[in-house]
Amino acid sequence: MPVTAGPVLIFRALDDSVLRLAALVLTDSAESPPPELETEAGRVAPRLLAEIGGEGVWRFDFALPRGGRPSYSFDGVSHRVATDFDGDLRIGFVSCNGEEHGDLDRDEAERNAMWRHMREAHLQSPFHLILHGGDQVYADEVTRGHALSESWPEDLEEAPGAEALDDLEDHLRRGFLERYRLTYAGAGFARMAAEVPALMIWDDHDICDGWGSLGEELAAHPIARRLFRAAREAFLLYQQAATEDDVPALFLDPKGRSLSFRRDLPGVSVIAPDLRSERGMERIMGPAGWQGFETAAEAPEERVLLVSSVPLLGPRLSILERLMNAIPTMQKYEDDLRDQWQSRAHRAEWQRMLRRVLEIEAGGSDVTALSGEIHLATRATLDSPRGPVHQLVASGIAHRAPPKAWAWMLGTLARLGEAPLPEHPIRIAPLPGRGTNYTAERNYLMLEREGGVWSARWALEESGVTPALPI
Ligand SMILES: [Fe+2]
Repeated sequence: MPVTAGPVLIFRALDDSVLRLAALVLTDSAESPPPELETEAGRVAPRLLAEIGGEGVWRFDFALPRGGRPSYSFDGVSHRVATDFDGDLRIGFVSCNGEEHGDLDRDEAERNAMWRHMREAHLQSPFHLILHGGDQVYADEVTRGHALSESWPEDLEEAPGAEALDDLEDHLRRGFLERYRLTYAGAGFARMAAEVPALMIWDDHDICDGWGSLGEELAAHPIARRLFRAAREAFLLYQQAATEDDVPALFLDPKGRSLSFRRDLPGVSVIAPDLRSERGMERIMGPAGWQGFETAAEAPEERVLLVSSVPLLGPRLSILERLMNAIPTMQKYEDDLRDQWQSRAHRAEWQRMLRRVLEIEAGGSDVTALSGEIHLATRATLDSPRGPVHQLVASGIAHRAPPKAWAWMLGTLARLGEAPLPEHPIRIAPLPGRGTNYTAERNYLMLEREGGVWSARWALEESGVTPALPI
């Protein structure tokens, strides 16, 4: 039975009188269930979602009364959850919880420093919700240790047999479970996850580096299909506490071709488009993703938190893209740029998304875009008749910052400006109290509604918490 990770609370819905939650728990054996979870209303029995390599993935479905800080207990530990969503509100945003290479072997104290910091902040003033904006794990190394995927994404066997592919999928499923188990059991993360309901949308590293920007031929390869299938199952299990059966209830596309979702709180709509499931070289979202997004964008609450796993507003990258394309040794970075809304290949789709954002604004809601991905903290604005649309970038919570020179180069590019919609220029700006556009420190974001007024503050590893930015 020993519990190896969890409970990890996943936000389901806010009903008239209760907050509905799912709690994910992992055990070292699927044979014996974890202890029951207990609320004031009684005991809740776990449900087995999956057995992987003999280990158990379990879910508790339960509810807590709205208002105040009710508690539940699990395995002898009591956890309090802030369920007073109506007035002042505190929402955390994090991204990039890991690194591409050797993440599981990092020094624990170093790796989870910002999680512990966030946990302290939560103890001082509780978060009501935590949004995970992508790269919840870095799965890049799950392809190691199996003959079919050892050299991923290069030198793949052309036509592997079904049996070998099944064996690979089994290997990948175990690899994903191990990665989530160790990441979720980390100091700081574990207590936060047990007390603050989460909403998570994936990005590339939850699958593999650059997923969707690696070329159509590779994406169609049977090894890639198995990798995506294992990653998708892992996203459902560990980031949504769900299985395929739950897809119609949880996502905007009932068929699950796109895993975008919308969840509402009083005065807030969280809209999280899935920028990975349907991504290809020439598109970011496909028909299912766009249809879901159009539905989600109808009649939102007065504040829209638009979680875009890659930044919706950013500097002009087309020059950099052309430059990299021209220099053979730089071509390997091209898929990183192809991943961006600002890539030349995605310009029309980017304009479509920005137009839609402006329409939501015109309808009377304020949109705030939240993104991770670049391992730097920054912000940007898009001119709109109702005032600026803010883009807040917080990345990463565990991924270390790139060299300061990279931040400087991006800052230089940012001075060129960008206006995919000519009447609505995009401007990159420093965080409050900072002199340069990009801050190269680990970080997370705190969004606060106080007396109906919204602001944002970044917690920076070395420089501390920034002054509040009115949004
Ligand atoms: Fe990342």
